[in-house]
Amino acid sequence: MTLSDAQSAETQPLINIETAVIGVLGGTGEQGRGLATRLTGAGLKVIIGSRTAERATDVAREIGESVRGMSNEDTAKASDIVIVAVPWDGHRELLASLATALSGKIVVDCVNPLGFDKGGAFGLNVPEGSAAQQAQTVLPDSTVVAAFHHISAKLLLDQDIVSLSGDVLVVGDDRTATDAIQALAGKIPGMRGVYAGKLRNAGQVEAFTANLISMNRRYKGHAGVHITDID
Ligand SMILES: NC(=O)c1ccc[n+]([C@@H]2O[C@H](COP(=O)([O-])OP(=O)(O)OC[C@H]3O[C@@H](n4cnc5c(N)ncnc54)[C@H](OP(=O)(O)O)[C@@H]3O)[C@@H](O)[C@H]2O)c1
Repeated sequence: MTLSDAQSAETQPLINIETAVIGVLGGTGEQGRGLATRLTGAGLKVIIGSRTAERATDVAREIGESVRGMSNEDTAKASDIVIVAVPWDGHRELLASLATALSGKIVVDCVNPLGFDKGGAFGLNVPEGSAAQQAQTVLPDSTVVAAFHHISAKLLLDQDIVSLSGDVLVVGDDRTATDAIQALAGKIPGMRGVYAGKLRNAGQVEAFTANLISMNRRYKGHAGVHITDID
């Protein structure tokens, strides 16, 4: 199912998360593997993407029999929803190279543009305003949503933790797409997707991760986010 197919369906949910194929660019890394593991565990169809198809296949096999591994480009082509889980350094270049393959897809950016020095982590100044806005700039034919910035890969990958706890802030300009990604976040046991504003508000969501990293260092944990007083 493509996004345009979904938009033509008048009486069905516009994006059916149950049947959508979820691709993860950079899915061989900690965050990508963690998200893929939890989403596969929830019964969703997941593809691991990598700059090297063989590495993707190896990691996919480790996660589960139903998970496929492909090059990043083939992952983008074969998926309805594509999570970007690569380091900030490679973000613009990778997405620009996949602009055609990602056309018409929902692209979910979880990239935190952070710097580190003796004072710890800090948010970098991004000319476009945020990683997510940069993604939308280089992917004009995709629908970019920002999400999953504050969920620790260590917790996602910890098999002893059956249910996590917290909220996933979902930022984007397209209601259909943010609703879909809220539903996707809710597939991770114990997590809830919460709409948190338009894409222009992604910068502070990304940079807040620097505060969480400071909390982790002080309190030796894997801090996340809980939003109060909303249903
Ligand atoms: N780790 C966390 O807890 C966490 C939490 C929230 C958000 N995030 C965000 O998620 C993203 C990924 O984090 P991570 O910890 O999983 O990072 P990572 O392990 O360093 O990298 C993820 C994958 O990206 C690919 N990659 C590395 N350099 C690249 C480049 N220059 N261009 C294209 N692909 C490249 C690699 O896959 P291949 O070599 O197989 O291509 C790598 O396995 C980051 O932007 C981070 O801010 C992380």
